[in-house]
Amino acid sequence: MRRFHIAAFVSLAIFAAAPVQAQDAAAGEKIFRKCTACHQVGEGAKNKAGPVLTDVIGRTAGTFEGYSYGKSMRAAGAAGLVWNSENIFNYLFNPKDFLRAFLDDPKAKAKMKFRLKDEQDRRDVIAYLSSFQMAMAAPVNGFCVTNQSQLTHVFAVDAGDAGRKVQELAPGETLCTTESDAPQNGFVSVFETPEHAEGCSRLITAGNTEGMVKYADFDRCEWASHSS
Ligand code: HEC
Repeated sequence: MRRFHIAAFVSLAIFAAAPVQAQDAAAGEKIFRKCTACHQVGEGAKNKAGPVLTDVIGRTAGTFEGYSYGKSMRAAGAAGLVWNSENIFNYLFNPKDFLRAFLDDPKAKAKMKFRLKDEQDRRDVIAYLSSFQMAMAAPVNGFCVTNQSQLTHVFAVDAGDAGRKVQELAPGETLCTTESDAPQNGFVSVFETPEHAEGCSRLITAGNTEGMVKYADFDRCEWASHSS
C-alpha cells in the first residue's frame, strides 16, 4: 500500500508539470486531416466513405448504425473485436493484415484502403480520437476513467469528500464520479483484481476523463494522456 501512495504522488507531480495530452491530441488533429477524406468525428458527424468515428474506442468493430461495412469487418465484430487504442494502432498500420490475423483467414478483405505507417502519427491520431470522446463523456464538476485496455480490471474514482466509487470495468466501459455542485478534482486508480491493493493512479481535474490503455503492476500502467 505504501508503494502505491508514493507512486501516486510522483505521477501527481509529473501530471501537474506537463499536460502532454493536449499536445498529442493537437498533433493528432492534424494527422486526422488524412482521415477526413473518409471519416467524420464529433457532433453532427455523418457516415461518408467510412463510418463515423465518434466514440469508436469501446465500440464493437463494424457496428456503427447506418454504415455498410465490409464482410470481414462485420465478421471481426461478431468474433468479439472491440476497438481500443492498441488494436486501432495495429489496424491503422495495415487494415488487411490486421483483419487477416484477427480472423485467422488469409482471404479476409479490408474496405479501408488507407494505411498510416508512422508510429507517432498513429499514437497522436488515437489520442485525438480518445480525447474527443473523453470531452464528451466527462461530467462538468466531476471526472471519469475509461478502460481502454483489452482486459477487465477494477477501477476507482476518488473525489475526496465528494466520495469514492469502485467498480469492475470491461474493455470500453467508463466509471464517473457522482455529479456534484462544485468542481471536484481527485484521483483515478486501477487495480488488477479487487483483492489486489497495488495498482496505478493518476491525479485528475474536474471535467476530464482519463483512459487506461494497458495495465502493469506498481504504477507502470499506460494512460491515454501519455504523461506517465
Ligand atoms: C480512403 C478512405 C479512408 C481513409 C483515408 C481512412 N479510412 Fe478508416 N475506414 C474506411 C472504411 C471504408 C472503413 C470501413 C472498413 C470495413 O468495413 O472493412 C474504415 C474503418 C475504420 C475504423 C473501424 C471503424 C468501425 O466502426 O469499426 C477505424 C477505427 C478507422 N477506419 C480509422 C481511421 C483513421 C484514424 C484514419 C486516418 C488516420 C482513417 N481511418 C482513414 C475508410 C478510410
